[in-house]
Parts: sequence; C-alpha cells; structure tokens
Amino acid sequence: MAELNTVILSDSARGLRAAAGLLRAGELVAFPTETVYGLGANARDDRAVARIFTAKGRPVFNPLIVHVPDAAMALELAEFSPAAEALAKRFWPGPLTLVLPRRPDTGLSGLATAGLDTVALRVPAHPLAHRLLEEFGGPLAAPSANPSGGVSPTTRAHVLDGLDGAIAAVLDGGACPVGLESTIVGFDRDTAVLLRPGGLPVEEIAALLGRPVDTLTTRHVTAPGQLQSHYAPRATLRLDAVGAASDEIWLGFGPVASLRPGLNLSERGDLVEAAANLFAHLRAADALAAEAGLSRIAVAPVPDSGLGLGINDRLRRAAAPRF
Ligand code: TXA
Ligand code: MG
Repeated sequence: MAELNTVILSDSARGLRAAAGLLRAGELVAFPTETVYGLGANARDDRAVARIFTAKGRPVFNPLIVHVPDAAMALELAEFSPAAEALAKRFWPGPLTLVLPRRPDTGLSGLATAGLDTVALRVPAHPLAHRLLEEFGGPLAAPSANPSGGVSPTTRAHVLDGLDGAIAAVLDGGACPVGLESTIVGFDRDTAVLLRPGGLPVEEIAALLGRPVDTLTTRHVTAPGQLQSHYAPRATLRLDAVGAASDEIWLGFGPVASLRPGLNLSERGDLVEAAANLFAHLRAADALAAEAGLSRIAVAPVPDSGLGLGINDRLRRAAAPRF
C-alpha cells in the first residue's frame, strides 16, 4: 500500500472542515475522544470502513463502535429497550457504548457491524469529537487509533507512532482526559450485561438500573472483540508485583517507593489519575525497558473497583500470552 502523508489538523474551524472533508471523501481521520483517540471513517461507506481494518491490521470479524453526535441519531440506527434508554439519557455524552439491535435500512456498512444484527453506539463527550461529528453530519465508525493488538493511543504522538503514513490525518486535541476506552454494555432481553469494563464505572450503571450488571460469564451475548491478548507493549508484564526485580522496570500504584527505575500510575492511589496515565505509562515503561535492555515490567496491584476494573482488564490482556 502506498504511504500517505499523514496530516496533522489543528483544533480550529479550518481543521475541523478539513477533517470532515477527508471523511466525506472516504479517508481515515484519527480524532480525540474523552477516552482514547479513535480512527474515524464514514460508517455508511464500505470502502472507507474496509480501510480501517487494513490500516489497523484488525480481524474483520471484530465489529467497530459507531459514533454519533447525539441520542437522536442513535435512535435512528438502533432499537432502544427501556433500560438502554435510561442509560443513554443519564450517561450520554460520555464513555459508555451500548450494543443494541440495529434497525433495517440505516445504510450502515455491514463491515462496521461485522454482519451482526446489533450495532455498538456511543455519543462521545469530547468537545472536538462532538464538533467533528456535527460538521461531518453522520455516523463515524471508530476503533481505537492503534495497530490491532497494541496499546491504545491517548495523544496525537501515540497515534502517529502506530499509524503515520497509513491514515490521511489526525485531529490534534491534546491528551485524552479519561484514558480508558468506553464501558461497553449489551443486553439479554432487557438485562444489562457488561461486555467490557471501561471509562464509566460499572457501579454507576448498576446504581442507575437499581440492580447489579450481569457479566459475560453468566449471560450469552455475542462479544467478538474480547480477544485475550491486547493492549500489549513489547515487554512482558508481571502483575500484582510487590516490587521490581533487578531485570524489571517498575510500574507502581500508590505511595510505594521503588529503588528500581520506573513509573507510578498514581502516587496518591487515585484510580482516575491511574486510568488517565495507564496507556502512556505502559508505552513509557516499554521504552525504559528497551533502553535498559530489559524485557519485563513489574506492575503493582490496582484495586478492582470503579475505574480499577477497566484498568485491571487492560493490564490482564497486556500480560496475556500472545499468539
Ligand atoms: O472508548 C472507546 O470505546 C474507543 C473510542 C475511540 O470511542 N473505541 C474503542 O473501539 O475502544 P475498539 O474497536 O477498540 O473496541 C470496540 C469494541 C470491540 O471489542 C468490539 O468487538 C466491540 O466493541 N463491539 C463492537 N460492535 C459490537 C457488537 N455489535 N456486539 C458486541 N461487541 C461489539
Ligand atoms: Mg482497541
């Protein structure tokens, strides 16, 4: 494939017009959301959506999240049960993706939904993402803007690390504030099922619904994207470590000093800060390991509640054996 000259577009009316124009022409544009940078394509253009899979090296059975500017457009694309409607009302715009039965004749690319009869929808809260969706005026398919299996990008530089020359442009919005991908919820009839923990704590969803959210192990909901190894840096990860050995880089959480070189997700033990730092710190720890000629990162335990659920999910996948 011919190398593209990936353009950096600024957070201006002109930058947004250029981004929307490229998207209309069937090109790929990376853009910031509050969670991570997305790799956007016109969700109604099969060839544009196909380019996402090529640029990322993503398996085509893995469907994409469709981003819309508001709930009104989401209602045109999918059927909302009462529980889905309640979640959308309370948490959109925000880091929540709902997997819902798709309506017929919406023009959505079958590739975006991998031929499923459901569609994953999200209304992002990031002001630039919102302005881009308004300017474009339609749904955008957008997975995280990184090569498949790698660490998700939370800055423009991360996007270029993985996709420079493979996409038309990146819209620069600085660092993503949440840092963890959206929480994905599907439904078994009207029962909410957690498909992926993420930037919206599942406890908040349960509180709104007045009951615990079911998990995939207890319910049968198709979740093709839950590949085990993912978010993987080059170095291997050792989780729940109390300290780093002499051949390891340290990735701490909480006020534990380490004599070994490394980083801390949050010295004050704050999960919000740790989520925002997670992917950038995984990249930085990987770079430290490479510099020092080491091949392992030891990671401190992170509490398994609130955003910690999403953080631990990503850490476990990053640590999983690779195929
Ligand atoms: O925060 C996010 O969600 C980011 C930003 C860019 O919005 N996007 C993101 O996309 O994380 P991606 O492609 O990396 O993850 C999408 C996940 C995949 O695991 C995919 O399998 C799942 O959503 N998914 C998409 N459509 C689905 C469907 N119809 N049924 C079940 N899972 C679906
Ligand atoms: Mg991803």
